[in-house]
Amino acid sequence: MTKHHSQRLFFALWPDADTRLGLHRVSNALSGHCGRVHQPDDLHITLAFLGRVSPDQYTCLMEAADEVIITPFELTIDKIELWRRPGILWCGPSHIPDQLQKLVADLKRRLYDCGFEPEKRVYTPHVTLARKSRLLPDYQIHQPLRWQVRGFVLASSDDAGSPPRYKVIKKWFADS
Ligand code: 2AM
Repeated sequence: MTKHHSQRLFFALWPDADTRLGLHRVSNALSGHCGRVHQPDDLHITLAFLGRVSPDQYTCLMEAADEVIITPFELTIDKIELWRRPGILWCGPSHIPDQLQKLVADLKRRLYDCGFEPEKRVYTPHVTLARKSRLLPDYQIHQPLRWQVRGFVLASSDDAGSPPRYKVIKKWFADS
């Protein structure tokens, strides 16, 4: 068993370099107003959170991801919000493209077959910028970020620090 198996895993959209830079700019514009800011390298949108997985589930989820159909799409990051209770300051899209809804639904259906309980809450794609935030800064995204999504990743979470750090384990792309 590799060390991946004892970590908390999740599927995510991982930004390309341009999008990451744009997200970092948004994060920079907000810093000073908010709690524990995520490192630029860690910014992402979770598609499905898996938690700790058994070796059998790990094999199953890798096979499941191989089967997922990826249709490229553009995601427009245009709003900033604060979830007050958990103190999560995030940015995300006002509009969720059908391709993203389908990608999440496809992943979840396949993951269910691997023994993962589906998330009951409505899916809200978001990039967590900072944790332990108390105030929604008086800032708006004037130039929306146009994120060209071409695939997704499996990533692991190391919760030892605050905020946590993340590592990409494997990437899947649409056939070009
Ligand atoms: P968050 O940023 O809103 O906390 C790794 O933890 C990623 O999975 C984060 O993007 C986190 O979202 C997301 N996630 C979703 N459900 C989670 C859960 N129950 N526990 C931890 N992280 C979760």
